[in-house]
Amino acid sequence: MLVNATQMLQSAEKGHYAVGAFNTNNLEWTRSILTAAEELQSPIIVQCTAGAAKWQQGFKVVTDILRDLCDYMKITVPVVMHLDHGSYEDCFKAIEAGFTSIMYDGSHEASFEINLERTAEIVKLCHSKGISVEAEVGGIGGTEDGITAKGELADPAQCKAIADLGVDFLACGIGNIHGLYPDDWEGLSFDQLAKIKAEVGDLPLVLHGGTGIPTDQIKKAISMGVSKINVNTDLQVAFAKATRAFVVSGKDLEGKNYDPRKFLKPGFDAIVARTKELMVDFGSDGKGWA
Ligand code: 13P
Repeated sequence: MLVNATQMLQSAEKGHYAVGAFNTNNLEWTRSILTAAEELQSPIIVQCTAGAAKWQQGFKVVTDILRDLCDYMKITVPVVMHLDHGSYEDCFKAIEAGFTSIMYDGSHEASFEINLERTAEIVKLCHSKGISVEAEVGGIGGTEDGITAKGELADPAQCKAIADLGVDFLACGIGNIHGLYPDDWEGLSFDQLAKIKAEVGDLPLVLHGGTGIPTDQIKKAISMGVSKINVNTDLQVAFAKATRAFVVSGKDLEGKNYDPRKFLKPGFDAIVARTKELMVDFGSDGKGWA
């Protein structure tokens, strides 16, 4: 059964660990990350952007695949189907399709007032349906056209205003960015994290751009109130590296290794192994509840 992320992340916040939110890209991906979660008895947030959902034939197909896989694989740990970086319009589509958790990313709206207004509307709707809500303050940058935007620092007063709307967890910029970090990245701003946490109390915080942040910084962020860590690129790199090694070694030419079940297996195994390492780093292993 799919659950929302509210209780899961409140437990993580209290217990000083974080739940990994891994983006799904296809059926194999979803199967890999569920395998890791079950083997380590870790709760897991499976998340999907509107773009990745479109690639997978829509929000409804993504949800149905996850639900059916959980039944078929007899998954016993709690699993969340979460919308990652949803626009206002995406949120309604994902709710309709049965997502159990929604991120409304209002950080790109024309004004903070619009972000506030729309977050309030989505919180009301989602809570009437038992769906959890993540909001965002301070855009999380990334690399576009070869230029890497510096990670923004969210304004603590704006974080408090959004927190007061009753969101279940909050993504706030603390110098983090999506994708691979440039060599001259300054690291996470723990001063900013402390200021935000002081404003929002025990509200679980979300760290986007989990790929490539040094483990000591991840652990410190968790100890200061980060309870959900988003990871996408890391698993994409692990999958591509393993698949590339398989091809470069010429193993793809042996026997019937052209069969997609065999061709994709090294990548599948690499995702399982890397997801398990991350779950151990985040401290969520053994925290699933039956
Ligand atoms: P990375 O691709 O940098 O891991 O970021 C994932 C993310 O934050 C998704 O919202």
